[in-house]
Amino acid sequence: MRNEPAPLLSAARIAHRIRSLAREIDRVYASGEIVMLALMKGALPFAADLMRALRTPVRLELARSRSYGAGMVSNGRPDLELPPDEIFAGQHVLVVDDILDSGFTWQAIHARVTLAAPLSLRGCFLLDKPSGRQVPAIPDFRGFEIPDQFVVGYGLDHDERYRDLPWIGTLSESSP
Ligand code: IMP
Ligand code: MG
Repeated sequence: MRNEPAPLLSAARIAHRIRSLAREIDRVYASGEIVMLALMKGALPFAADLMRALRTPVRLELARSRSYGAGMVSNGRPDLELPPDEIFAGQHVLVVDDILDSGFTWQAIHARVTLAAPLSLRGCFLLDKPSGRQVPAIPDFRGFEIPDQFVVGYGLDHDERYRDLPWIGTLSESSP
């Protein structure tokens, strides 16, 4: 059994926002091609829906980033596993993640991908929790700004659970 999160964003609201976000992104890249770097595991549902909503052609790449154990607080040093630099060199790279919280993950990915000499590098986050920021980080694109609460569902987990929910809800610290 697991605790039922309190509903925050319905599947319909997420789907609607992704369609408008896709138009924002299309406008920025005009007709170019992008390399979408989706961060596993949390960004998988978002990346899958976003790339199908975009008119901009996408080459999909995956990276793995881990900053949380079983807790709710980033340890500040995300572990990154990225594709080889050749994938990014001279390309328009769009990093896609589920949430921008402390900023540590985006800071680390940004620094690492910059070394690969992309033509451009931007970050797109379904959720933005500005109150969690520990290092300066501004999303180039974001779906929703959310309050200072731990969220799960639509890819986001707590201890590897809840990723399968089609909607997003909040979980309190006392939940198992
Ligand atoms: P940051 O490095 O703290 O900005 O957070 C990036 C990663 O932390 C995200 O990709 C998520 O996997 C995880 N994360 C941050 N906040 C939450 C949350 O409220 N729920 C679930 N995962 C979160
Ligand atoms: Mg994550």
